[in-house]
Amino acid sequence: MLCGYSDRLSAPPGQAIRFMVNCERPSYEAQLVRLICGDSNPMGPGVKEAPIDSPVNGAHPGRAQAIESGSYVEVDDGPRLEVAGSFSLQAMIWPTTPAKGEQVIAAKWRDADRAGIALVIGGDGALAARLGDGRGRVETLSTQKPLLAHEWYFVAVTFDAATRELALYQEPLARYLRVDDAAVVRAAVAADRAGATGAPLMFAACRTAGGALSGRYNGKIEGPRLANRALTRTEMETLRTGPVPTSLVGAVVGAWDFWRDMSSERVTDASANLLHGRAVNMPARAMKGASWTGEVMDWKQAPEQYGAIHFHDDDLYDARWQVDFTLTVPASMKSGLYAARLRAGEEEDYVPFVVTPAPGQEKAIAFLLPSASYMAYANEHMAANSPLIELVSGRLIPFDKYSLFLNEHREYGLSCYDSHSDGSGVCYSSRLRPILNMRPKHISSLGGAGSSLWQFNADTHITDWLEANGYEFDVLTDEDLHDRGAAALMPYRVVLSGSHPEYHSPEMWTGLKAYLDRGGRLMSLGANGWYWKIAYHPTLPGVIEVRRNEDGVRTWAAEPGEYYGSFTGSYGGLWRRQGRPPQMIVGTGFSAQGFDVSAPYRRLPDSFDPRAAFVFEGIGDGELIGDFGLIGGGAAGLELDRADRLLGTPPHALVMATSKGGHTDIYLVVPEEVLATYPGLGGAENELVRADMVFFETLDDGAVWSASSIAWSGSLSHNGYRNNVSRITENVLKRFLDPRPFVTGQS
Ligand SMILES: [Fe+2]
Repeated sequence: MLCGYSDRLSAPPGQAIRFMVNCERPSYEAQLVRLICGDSNPMGPGVKEAPIDSPVNGAHPGRAQAIESGSYVEVDDGPRLEVAGSFSLQAMIWPTTPAKGEQVIAAKWRDADRAGIALVIGGDGALAARLGDGRGRVETLSTQKPLLAHEWYFVAVTFDAATRELALYQEPLARYLRVDDAAVVRAAVAADRAGATGAPLMFAACRTAGGALSGRYNGKIEGPRLANRALTRTEMETLRTGPVPTSLVGAVVGAWDFWRDMSSERVTDASANLLHGRAVNMPARAMKGASWTGEVMDWKQAPEQYGAIHFHDDDLYDARWQVDFTLTVPASMKSGLYAARLRAGEEEDYVPFVVTPAPGQEKAIAFLLPSASYMAYANEHMAANSPLIELVSGRLIPFDKYSLFLNEHREYGLSCYDSHSDGSGVCYSSRLRPILNMRPKHISSLGGAGSSLWQFNADTHITDWLEANGYEFDVLTDEDLHDRGAAALMPYRVVLSGSHPEYHSPEMWTGLKAYLDRGGRLMSLGANGWYWKIAYHPTLPGVIEVRRNEDGVRTWAAEPGEYYGSFTGSYGGLWRRQGRPPQMIVGTGFSAQGFDVSAPYRRLPDSFDPRAAFVFEGIGDGELIGDFGLIGGGAAGLELDRADRLLGTPPHALVMATSKGGHTDIYLVVPEEVLATYPGLGGAENELVRADMVFFETLDDGAVWSASSIAWSGSLSHNGYRNNVSRITENVLKRFLDPRPFVTGQS
């Protein structure tokens, strides 16, 4: 697979973007292109791109670049970490796939001469310890009692070099009748040392002699402790939680408290030795530990109850590829959506990026590319892994080359729609890897039959429409808004949203609200926006966190007690559940979804209000709006938003048109609306299954217009862009560009 990624999604002129490429052939051709439309649907405008002159164009040497996924902790070796003779190694563990095959809990192991110590779950699912003297002798001791998944255990191995006794402890916290999973086993061994000088101490994985990551563990580990003598069981108990007791200060080599420095990659050693480690590939933190009482839901209130790290064999943060070429954005490159197109033989890939305007060079229109939502969806495996996808679509789902590749190459990482291999939800997603569904020509499983009208390619229908109608515009990303707040938007008379801007950080939310309150004008060209609350990592670039709390349309559920994110400590879940429903921003919010056929809008009495006259200029009184389009033949489809005064739709908002009554029973009311299940939740019967088109004025002559349907973007290009969806969109855009104030009654 020829593919790549860039170190940043957007840059203004003068700044550099680095590109990393995997190419298994001797060379590939790079060509910068301006992306106009990415949807390959033959019924639509087709893929449109324009080549751009650049020094990065031309042949580049190919090289294979691999990804090493799987999270672990590494503590560098040093004189203080040396445990050549007697030792104790202990931890609390909550394995999730004990039957998977050998998995490392903790190891200081040098595989080349098989020296050191390792505490593992063996191929039989039972706890085992390994001791290698580096002279060819490897002792192994197993409890031979398989561990249960999703149960807490105290586990430990001790070795007394004087008596040569090796002891292994496997003690479940919960005991069940007829389950025999507790064991303490001892054996006299021939080895008298476990020297592994130079080997790091690792938790949740170790390395083979060839350097490959092996024994990748799934599950939680809490409070690992290493001591330089064989501790008694009582001594080990005193070390389980809390500070190292005075009596053991001389014996303890390291006491890693995973609850400290939770919002960083650091793994803090609370012992006097300060042997801090680092977590690689971003295992889940702020995870509840064995001592969680159920009385505290926020880890900030009792961090020591959140001392577990949940490791996954498919975690990935940064692919860490070598840089293949660097583009310094020239002043001649106007703001817009671009890509580095890569070609080698019949292989092709695009690495999209955004050029933002130089300060002071902003145009009147900004398109806000929903990059946070692209990250949440990055490399989603729904076509292969979601058994519901065909039910909610009412059709068979095809795989494109990217979906097939991702299904076979799990090392490219998961999306916040996927579950890890152990079934737990994916709460982090990074863009420091190829994101193969953020690509022109990609066919999404959700984007309608024969179409790729979902996220990135749906959004290019909006940029294509702007271009086709002769509008100049800038492009900004969610990250630009997150980083700069309202200042990023203030230069613009009109901001256009993407088709599905679902994920917003508090900084993005308040930035956009401040823009609207200071006279900004927003055209919301999609649906199910401003839905999930996310956090960007405060120091690490390119990664977001989503906790899927409480309800909402979701593919996994956060565990009880794990509703607060690790990045910033903020409560996750739906913005609606935190007093900020999407209706407060755009007048409408998520109400129903379905993925078969779409519906048109019908005008409502509000559309004849003089304030709405500009919206419907050229539209007949009884005219159906959007009874055509690339998505199921209509403009109201996929995901639908409705106005609701009780959820924050402003009292003066005009609800001008609706698709109510036009939807099939594949369309269903969203779960956050459903207090109890009952018949009649489908589109044929339920009035909440609808898209409402709204308009309202904001303070200081700002205004908001919302289409409230993802499929809206798929109707823009119908009939050579001459249609009533296109007309209404342009009517609104023209009026929003006009600086004249909105005066009630005479728009
Ligand atoms: Fe979504």
